Amino acid sequence: MSAILQILVTKADDFVSSTTGILFPVSQLHKTIHYSFVAFSGLLAAITFLVQWRNPAPYGKLKTPAEERKWGPKIPIIPAHVSSDGPSGTIMFLIIYLRGSQHGHWTNWMFASLFMAHYFQRGFIHPFIMKYGQNDVPVGIWFGGLAPNILFHGLVADWLANAVFPRNHLQSPVVLLGLVLFFGGFIVNRVADWKQREWKRKQDEARLKVGPVNEGYTFPKGWLFDFIANPNYFGELVEWTGFLLITQAPASLTWDLFSAATFFARSAHNLAFYQKKFADSYPRHRKALIPFIY
Ligand SMILES: NC(=O)c1ccc[n+]([C@@H]2O[C@H](COP(=O)([O-])OP(=O)(O)OC[C@H]3O[C@@H](n4cnc5c(N)ncnc54)[C@H](OP(=O)(O)O)[C@@H]3O)[C@@H](O)[C@H]2O)c1
Repeated sequence: MSAILQILVTKADDFVSSTTGILFPVSQLHKTIHYSFVAFSGLLAAITFLVQWRNPAPYGKLKTPAEERKWGPKIPIIPAHVSSDGPSGTIMFLIIYLRGSQHGHWTNWMFASLFMAHYFQRGFIHPFIMKYGQNDVPVGIWFGGLAPNILFHGLVADWLANAVFPRNHLQSPVVLLGLVLFFGGFIVNRVADWKQREWKRKQDEARLKVGPVNEGYTFPKGWLFDFIANPNYFGELVEWTGFLLITQAPASLTWDLFSAATFFARSAHNLAFYQKKFADSYPRHRKALIPFIY
């Protein structure tokens, strides 16, 4: 069994280095553990898609009291959000990163900083500026965010800590495209979240004055909202696809797939929510996640 695993790991490593030129010079045991977890994380992405497709996590537009009960007792939403997203993508990431043999190289530092910057924003800024539609969240939803974050963030950190990138890596057109996608996706994600937050704020103010207004959801209009239900998910998907092109890490591939699993399923449910809620006034040509395509 261990001989078969060793052959598979060696083949995977050869494949990655021969197609990308990137080496992962760690011990055979380290490689076996790393690639085994990467394989497991790919499986997790597939399972997540199936589960989210059938029963999307009950928060925001998609929450129902019956579904919420299945995910356990509730905990306050801001500490839940901070603890599930912040420490794993920054503090834990940095600890793992600094243990690697290549952490001093500035290419590795740059890529690690992009990841940590995203998670500093997501874990330590976003929860405090977000206009949540609820004060608490079931503990199962919190854990369902925390556990995959620890796994994926750990794997990406381990890769960036030890990968040896070719000297001309940053001049490759694929990597340059990746950087454009990463920053472009980040901007789209931030702008879309900001617009939704403003709608929520206005809804909350109106509700205080005149009672329930449209049950807390504005008809989405303008910019990318004229084409898709979830520009914020689209932006983040583009961002992680860019990160995959930049780092060319097996763990970045499964992380992109895992994020896509949530975004594809959840945006389809959100589109159905809007179509039902706003009925005929909601334009039929609008897609869920990718303009004109899906
Ligand atoms: N990497 C991953 O796997 C992953 C997974 C999930 C989310 N995310 C990211 O997390 C961020 C937030 O996403 P999310 O799924 O938590 O929230 P979301 O459903 O996109 O909603 C964000 C905020 O906007 C409000 N909102 C949404 N549509 C609205 C409308 N039509 N009118 C008024 N208010 C509206 C929501 O209120 P309610 O709370 O009342 O709905 C909530 O306060 C995004 O940037 C997303 O990309 C990442």
